[in-house]
Amino acid sequence: MKQTRLPEKPDAKSPAGADIRFIMDGPTGNMIHSTVPVGQTNRATRHRTVHEFWHVLSGHGQIWRSDDSSQRVVDLEAGVSIDIPAGTAFQYRNTGESVLQFICISMPPWPGDDEAEFVDMRDHLEAGSGYDKVIALHRTSSPPLDLLNERMIQACADRVREEEGDVRLLFDATGALTLGSARPEKSLRELDPEVLARSYAINAIGPALLMKHFLPLLPKEGRSVFATLSARVGSIGDNGLGGWFAYRAAKAGLNQLVRTASIELARKNPAAICIALHPGTVKTPLTENFAKTGLDVQEPAVAAERLVNVLTSLTPADTGGFFDQTGRPIPW
Ligand SMILES: NC(=O)c1ccc[n+]([C@@H]2O[C@H](COP(=O)([O-])OP(=O)(O)OC[C@H]3O[C@@H](n4cnc5c(N)ncnc54)[C@H](OP(=O)(O)O)[C@@H]3O)[C@@H](O)[C@H]2O)c1
Repeated sequence: MKQTRLPEKPDAKSPAGADIRFIMDGPTGNMIHSTVPVGQTNRATRHRTVHEFWHVLSGHGQIWRSDDSSQRVVDLEAGVSIDIPAGTAFQYRNTGESVLQFICISMPPWPGDDEAEFVDMRDHLEAGSGYDKVIALHRTSSPPLDLLNERMIQACADRVREEEGDVRLLFDATGALTLGSARPEKSLRELDPEVLARSYAINAIGPALLMKHFLPLLPKEGRSVFATLSARVGSIGDNGLGGWFAYRAAKAGLNQLVRTASIELARKNPAAICIALHPGTVKTPLTENFAKTGLDVQEPAVAAERLVNVLTSLTPADTGGFFDQTGRPIPW
């Protein structure tokens, strides 16, 4: 028989990024206490063999879970329990104003950090794309990068210039479809000027400011790439369905900004490539409730691998283009 007390300080970090304290272990499972700081989003992860049960003690957050048959996002708050079966992709974050705390039971006992596989773009770039170093900037990184704050974007670019020098690949994976409670419009009647402006701010102006501050970091000689995730629904030529006004228009604006920036970039960096990419339909929080049956809905890891392959195959002649996840051009 064992008895333990909650350690004062965390014992370790989980592969996804939570601070963890070991509470109990036995031959059939183990139990940990996890905390996620305010504002933190942990890495999208999948466990190979271990099942987990979570019980939330305090704070507010959200978790996205996705398996072969379904995906969903649920709120995490005191009293809520969830399970994470082996093989389920999941990502969670603290959305509240205090630390998010939960108890996590793993069965069988956690075998070691090789148990977790990551499902984001960064892992694929780190794994085999030939880049020496991958730097991930986001709203909770240090320094933080918020697309709605140009000073933050500039500070991030300055820091990368000072500490790293030249950058060979800039990959922008940001964007938003649902803005707060505003779901994509089905009809002109639903147009809201504030939602149109917010969608443009995140999906077009933010990436434009990334280009303004980060494209000067691309080396003047040799191949380099700036890629931003647009969406096929931003194609004007391909729009046969209508609806989703704010998102479509903002992505169409993004495509024009990429095209225009590519022309200026080509004068200074003839070997640089500046493109918009459609990742295909991917199981992420963005597509929850929107991925229609019959579509090829990809796991994030599969989409990331395909996008890395497209990035690797592009040549300077492709600059200014709009491509899908197989490398095929999409009409404007
Ligand atoms: N999923 C699809 O099927 C699909 C299809 C076509 C196109 N796309 C495009 O692919 C891109 C990525 O989408 P996703 O499916 O991966 O969606 P997601 O899981 O919702 O990711 C969106 C990302 O954008 C970041 N972001 C949002 N607002 C930001 C801000 N103000 N400053 C900094 N970062 C911000 C989010 O950061 P936090 O983590 O901090 O919230 C998150 O990392 C988007 O441009 C989307 O339009 C996706």
